[in-house]
Amino acid sequence: MSFRILGTGSYLPKRSVYNDELSQFIDTSDEWIQQRVGISSRPICTTETTADMAYNAALGALEMSGVSPSELDMILCATVSADYAAPSLACSLQSMLGATCPAMDINAACSGFIYTLETAAAFFGRGLKRILVVGAERLSRVVDWSDRSTAVIFADGAGAMMLGDGDTYISSKLCAKGDAEVLCIPSFAGTSPYYEVESKKPYVHMNGQEVFKFAVNAMCTDLADVVAAAGLKIDDIAWIIPHQANARIIDAAVRKLDLKPERCLKNIETTGNTSAASVAILADELFRSGKLKDGDYIVMAAFGAGLTSAACVIRWGGW
Ligand code: UT7
Repeated sequence: MSFRILGTGSYLPKRSVYNDELSQFIDTSDEWIQQRVGISSRPICTTETTADMAYNAALGALEMSGVSPSELDMILCATVSADYAAPSLACSLQSMLGATCPAMDINAACSGFIYTLETAAAFFGRGLKRILVVGAERLSRVVDWSDRSTAVIFADGAGAMMLGDGDTYISSKLCAKGDAEVLCIPSFAGTSPYYEVESKKPYVHMNGQEVFKFAVNAMCTDLADVVAAAGLKIDDIAWIIPHQANARIIDAAVRKLDLKPERCLKNIETTGNTSAASVAILADELFRSGKLKDGDYIVMAAFGAGLTSAACVIRWGGW
């Protein structure tokens, strides 16, 4: 089943936190972060909730597409940092938009937005006509700000796509390899007087090197697989939208697959790693840049906790 993109939107908090600001209270440096991760600043919420960011991104996608909230058949949100465990972020967003359609969240960590696109494609197969898909994260809330290996990486933001029925979602691949050791965010322990096991702190725990290796392999394999499944060659792809986790992961994939670096998009320098929002924010930047031509093939590829990975090929146009 397939769809076409009717509009996109994104939202980044106005407050950019620069590397030098972090080095005032974490044992790190601007030089280390730029060289090892490729980030110079990252947007961090000062007042916004995850739902506020999702709402602003959704407004952009609705406005671009000319769809009103009352016309929505479904709202799907990808997130690991919703404001509430329940209700879902999608239900909070539905209320803010004044929509009445079903709404639910999907958690596939940083691969979540592509998992959500695939879920939307299945719903189009059930006859739905307009689905709003949003990736939104307030990772500044789940990071341990004394842990230099994660605090310098993660950031806040949201991206959205308004989808209509159509035939431009060409191929896709979803993967999961259950592993809660390498990268996880434990839930809050609670106050049960009966539970006897000590819980991990409810912050991001990450073995960076293990994730790095998984990420490069997963991204290269998934990207090549979805391009082949679409009946295309890598050179046919106009734009690659990779998850923005580390500039060196993207550069490694460029080298391994012999991609044209200028076709493999990056905004990590100023957006940081926004997990499930990352590819959606970058897609909105591309779609609003005027660089896209009707018929351009785009690949999105992401990886993250789970361990999950996902990729898809989308053709631009089809209106
Ligand atoms: O989107 C979710 C998926 N997440 C990812 O894809 C993350 C993937 N992993 C990474 O991006 C990288 O592994 C990191 C950026 C997390 C770490 O970079 P690295 O090049 O793998 O560094 P490392 O873990 O091998 O650490 C090298 C050194 C260590 O010091 P020693 O033991 O060599 O003395 C670390 O303690 O760098 C140290 N280090 C830092 N130094 C300054 C770790 N973090 C920092 C820091 N500032 N922020």
